Amino acid sequence: MTITRTLMVALVATAAGSGAALAAGGSEKHPEHQHWHFSGPFGKFDQNALQRGYQVYETVCSNCHSLDLVAFRNLGQKGGPFYLDKCPEGFGDSIDCSNPNDNPIVKALADKYKYQVTDGPDDSGDMFQRAALPSDHIPGPYANEQLARLANNNALPPDLSLITKARSGGPDYVYSLITGYEDAPSTVEMAAGQHYNPYFPGDMAQVMKPEYMHDGHPVEGVSVPPGGVLAMAPPLADGIIEYGDGSPQTVEQYAKDVTEFLMWAAEPKMEARKALGIMTIIYLVILAGILYWSYRKVWADQH
Ligand code: HEC
Repeated sequence: MTITRTLMVALVATAAGSGAALAAGGSEKHPEHQHWHFSGPFGKFDQNALQRGYQVYETVCSNCHSLDLVAFRNLGQKGGPFYLDKCPEGFGDSIDCSNPNDNPIVKALADKYKYQVTDGPDDSGDMFQRAALPSDHIPGPYANEQLARLANNNALPPDLSLITKARSGGPDYVYSLITGYEDAPSTVEMAAGQHYNPYFPGDMAQVMKPEYMHDGHPVEGVSVPPGGVLAMAPPLADGIIEYGDGSPQTVEQYAKDVTEFLMWAAEPKMEARKALGIMTIIYLVILAGILYWSYRKVWADQH
C-alpha cells in the first residue's frame, strides 16, 4: 500500500506544481518548426550556409554577444565553415591549407580583430595588444559583465556558443525569436529599451496597463498576450548584410544562416557523431544476421 500512497502523493504534487507554474507565468508562442539541413540521422551542415551564418554573426551579433568556446582555427577544421581541402590558386605547395592554422581565410578573419588580444609580457615586462591569431578564441565585445550590462540596459547578452542547445526548442527557438518580434499589444505598457517578442518566455501580466488588470488577473474580455519583453532590439533588417553568393538578403535568410552557424558552433562534431551512429547500426544488423544464421546452423539437426 505504501507504494501506491507514495505514487499518489507524487502525482498530486506534480499536478499542483504545474498548476502553480501556469498561474505564475504567461505562455509563449511555440517556436516555428523549420526545415534544417542538419536535421535527421543523415542531416549535414551546409558549408555555404555556415559561411553566411558566420558573416551574420561577425557583422551583427558579435557587437553584443561573445562566442567564447570557438577559436578561429575551429572555423577551418573539417566540417567547419571555412575548411579547405586544398589551397586556392596562388599558394605554394609548401602550405597545407587543410591545416586550420595555415588556412588563409581563417588567418584573415582572425587578423580583422586588431589589438583585441592581450599578450605578453614583452622584453620590458609589459603586456601588449595584438591582432588575433588562428589559435586565439574569438574575442568577445566587452571586457567584463559590468560593461556588457552598462551597454545593454542592464541586461546581459548571453554567450552564444551553446545557445542552440541551452534553450528549449533549440534552433527553431533561436530562429523564431530573432524573426518573430511584433509591435507591443495596446494592453501593455513597456519601459524604454524593452521589446515585445511573443516567443520569448516571460510574463506579460507584469507589464499590462493597470486599467486592464484586477487583483492580478486581466479584466473580463482581455487576455494576457503570449511571450515576454527583452532588452534585445530586433537585431536584423532586410538588406543590412551583403551576401557574395546571391542568397536572398532578407531577415529570414540571415536568421536561418546564423542559426545554422550557431548550431555548428554548439556541436561541431555532429556529422562525425551521426556517421558513427549509422556505422554502428549497420554493424549490429550484420552481426544479428550472422548470429541468427549460426543459431540455425548449430541447432539444425536437434529436434
Ligand atoms: C545591440 C546588442 C545586441 C545585438 C546586436 C544582438 N543581441 Fe541578442 N541579446 C542582446 C541582449 C541585451 C540580450 C538579453 C536580453 C534579455 O535578457 O532581456 C540578448 C539575448 C539574445 C538571446 C537569448 C534569448 C533568451 O532566450 O534568453 C539570443 C538567442 C540572441 N540574443 C541572439 C542574437 C543573435 C543571433 C544576434 C545576431 C543576429 C543578436 N542576438 C544580436 C543584445 C544584442
